[in-house]
Amino acid sequence: MELKGFKTDTIIEPFRIRSVEPIRFTTMEQRKALLSEAGYNPFLLKAKDVVIDLLTDSGTGAMSAKQWAGMISSDESYAGSESFYRFESAVQDITGFKHVIPTHQGRAAENILFTTIAKKGDVIPSNTHFDTTRAHVEHNGAEALDLVIDEGRQPLTIHPFKGNMNVEKLEGTIKRVGQDNIPVIMLTLTNNSGGGQPVSMENVKAVSKIARSHDIPFFIDACRFAENSWFIKTREEGYEDKKPIEIAHEIFSYADGCTMSAKKDGMANIGGFLALNNDKLAQDCRSLTILTEGFPTYGGMAGYDMEAVATGLYEALDEGYLKYRIRSTAYLGDKLIDAGISIVQPTGGHAVYIDAKEMLPQIDPLEYPAWSLTNALYLIGGVRAVEIGSVMFGLQPDGSEKPASMELVRLAIPRRVYTQSHIDYLAEVVIHAYNQRNELKGYKIISSPAVLRHFSAKLQPLDQ
Ligand code: F0G
Repeated sequence: MELKGFKTDTIIEPFRIRSVEPIRFTTMEQRKALLSEAGYNPFLLKAKDVVIDLLTDSGTGAMSAKQWAGMISSDESYAGSESFYRFESAVQDITGFKHVIPTHQGRAAENILFTTIAKKGDVIPSNTHFDTTRAHVEHNGAEALDLVIDEGRQPLTIHPFKGNMNVEKLEGTIKRVGQDNIPVIMLTLTNNSGGGQPVSMENVKAVSKIARSHDIPFFIDACRFAENSWFIKTREEGYEDKKPIEIAHEIFSYADGCTMSAKKDGMANIGGFLALNNDKLAQDCRSLTILTEGFPTYGGMAGYDMEAVATGLYEALDEGYLKYRIRSTAYLGDKLIDAGISIVQPTGGHAVYIDAKEMLPQIDPLEYPAWSLTNALYLIGGVRAVEIGSVMFGLQPDGSEKPASMELVRLAIPRRVYTQSHIDYLAEVVIHAYNQRNELKGYKIISSPAVLRHFSAKLQPLDQ
């Protein structure tokens, strides 16, 4: 008997599921009432009332048996715990940075960094600042400047690295505002607010060169560094034979530090860190850490959280995992494209971003087309997504409103949580909404806070 083996390029979930959570199904009538009670804001829904929860890929992943094992055997000492040293050595091994300051999540690292280095009148360029990053920059009186390449603002334009920064604009900004008014240059990997799009190694290198020639620190917002490394491996010449961890090493070698939310490519439910090389800056940041987070060998984390991250960072860099991760997001993207739906292309790493401006031309940007589609997905199929459009970004520091550059609905995929049949269901819900797109109406904001308004604003449909 001469048998042939099954093809080796098949991509299936590279894990078995040994612990499950129930999903509760609701009717459309129930969801209508629930959404109205939540002020038409999906952030205010109860998770138990959601069928497929794609609000975020942050802290929502499933942990491995190895991570749980580490958690059970953690060291919870206040100072100098074994768990801290394991965490520190994993971060140092992957990033190469000398100082590692644990924080309870990414925004705490941002708070510490920007409070320490930014002041009123400063400008902080990035490809695109994530909303919490922007809020921390602005909270310290500085300006958060987005310098992503033009292709990064055009959902349908295909480009392998739409997260790249426009380096001519960066040079121009340094000339215009002066290097003394730029305390740090940031690059967000992958560019979450711009569609989960990667940044090329060439661009990381170019930004680093400019930063170094002007003596400006260069920091990476590293939340999805492993996914970005995979895109470099598969899309950038010269990296196809490199391991994701080798690519990550090279990325970090061009930077002076990073902020990290370990809730993404740390594969943990909570945690983060600030890592950097400069001794004086590290000392200042540690002082603030003690005030706002905790003693520097635990920051905002329990010992077991640090264990989960120490193991998770390596799992996120596993080739089999990354291949499945990026392919499963593209699988959803392909289904929507085949149905004629405009999404940010190519499909991003952690999420599919639907172009609501293109889908709903009848809704004015300041009547929030992406918000309208997000709510329709919940009403139709109990799917919770998130608006990345004018509700999130439209409010200006002076209180006025300006349409965001894109109106996107993000379907963020939690890590190792949903199976292919969940994703098939989800695609059907989105297509069902698309087929009824002419019925969708805009929204108005009834009440909202002064910052980060999308988290808690109350809205009302315009046809009510
Ligand atoms: N930077 C980026 C690029 C992010 O995507 C996030 C969080 C943060 C910083 C802040 O990290 O949540 O740990 O404080 N993004 C989540 C999201 C919330 O849904 O995209 P955090």
